[in-house]
Amino acid sequence: MTHRIALLPGDGVGPEVTEQARRVVDALGLAVEWTELPWGSAFFHTNGRMMAEDWEEVLRDHDAVLLGAIGDPSVPDHESLWGSILLVRQKLDLWANERPARLLEGIPCPLAGRGPADVDMLFVRENTEGEYAGIGGRSHRGLPIEVGIETSVFTRTGVERVVRHAFSLAAKRRGVLTSATKSNASRFGYVLWDEVVEEVAADFPGVRVDRVLVDALAARMVRDPGSLDVVVASNLFADILTDLAAAIQGGMGMAASANIAPGHDVPGVFEPVHGSAPDIAGQGIANPVGAIWSTSLMLDHLGELDAARRVMRALESVCRDGPRTRDIGGAASTREVGDAVVALV
Ligand code: IPM
Ligand code: MN
Repeated sequence: MTHRIALLPGDGVGPEVTEQARRVVDALGLAVEWTELPWGSAFFHTNGRMMAEDWEEVLRDHDAVLLGAIGDPSVPDHESLWGSILLVRQKLDLWANERPARLLEGIPCPLAGRGPADVDMLFVRENTEGEYAGIGGRSHRGLPIEVGIETSVFTRTGVERVVRHAFSLAAKRRGVLTSATKSNASRFGYVLWDEVVEEVAADFPGVRVDRVLVDALAARMVRDPGSLDVVVASNLFADILTDLAAAIQGGMGMAASANIAPGHDVPGVFEPVHGSAPDIAGQGIANPVGAIWSTSLMLDHLGELDAARRVMRALESVCRDGPRTRDIGGAASTREVGDAVVALV
């Protein structure tokens, strides 16, 4: 069966890292058909929108989407992102964002005395509602009484599906699920979240649940990352925590992600977490590991388990033996790292 993949390189370093990710996938010898989509900030300047009008049809017509990054200083972020990735997550109802944070051998860790054995976390981020539901508004613009309202939305369905998914992942790993909220200060949505966690826990007797406040969890990630296995949290909280997690696994360039709707026949969107990094775009020095790692998540999702493992093994060996880009202590270019992974798969 041919896998039809939509490739959306996007802005900044997106095209540089996805080029390497695509080469790695092509080197696997699978039947893959790519559709490259020119959407992003440049597209916005000529067309007045971030993606083509029929974007939803186009994406739904593929088995998966590989995304580089969206964002450019020439377009306000809230416009470029609500016109692309945030819209895609909501409209395709990609309600789970899985973000593995594993420290690979050979990658420097900013935490003193910690190594690969201490850092193997999997974040499951609620991806369509919560604090990023997109509900709110502004009035009295420019006046002293101006107001901006941003409403968080927590639905039982939305919370339960992502929590249940996180439990099922924990059951297949080390059997520990940490759920982070802030229900001591915010009394409604997060309290609902906590209650749902307690209810779903009854269906997973083999998983130990740990309910923590998100502020305390941030400290724990730094002090004792080894105590964390699967972490589930709301859209905003897991957004913040996964940047911290990325730093712990060697930096933003290392972090991969999968936007998916488990159990539903909708294409997942796979993307590195680092964003468009306009400061280093065009220099050929961006770390392609997060993007290549994302293809491993994608292949896994497409049922190509062996290919997914091969990509991961090649990445592990390149991180251990080099070449590495400068953000992780090397001097190699984006392409040299791509070459090394290609040679190994
Ligand atoms: C991420 C990014 C996005 C998010 C931004 C670009 C909207 O930071 O994927 O973590 O917060 O979801
Ligand atoms: Mn983020």
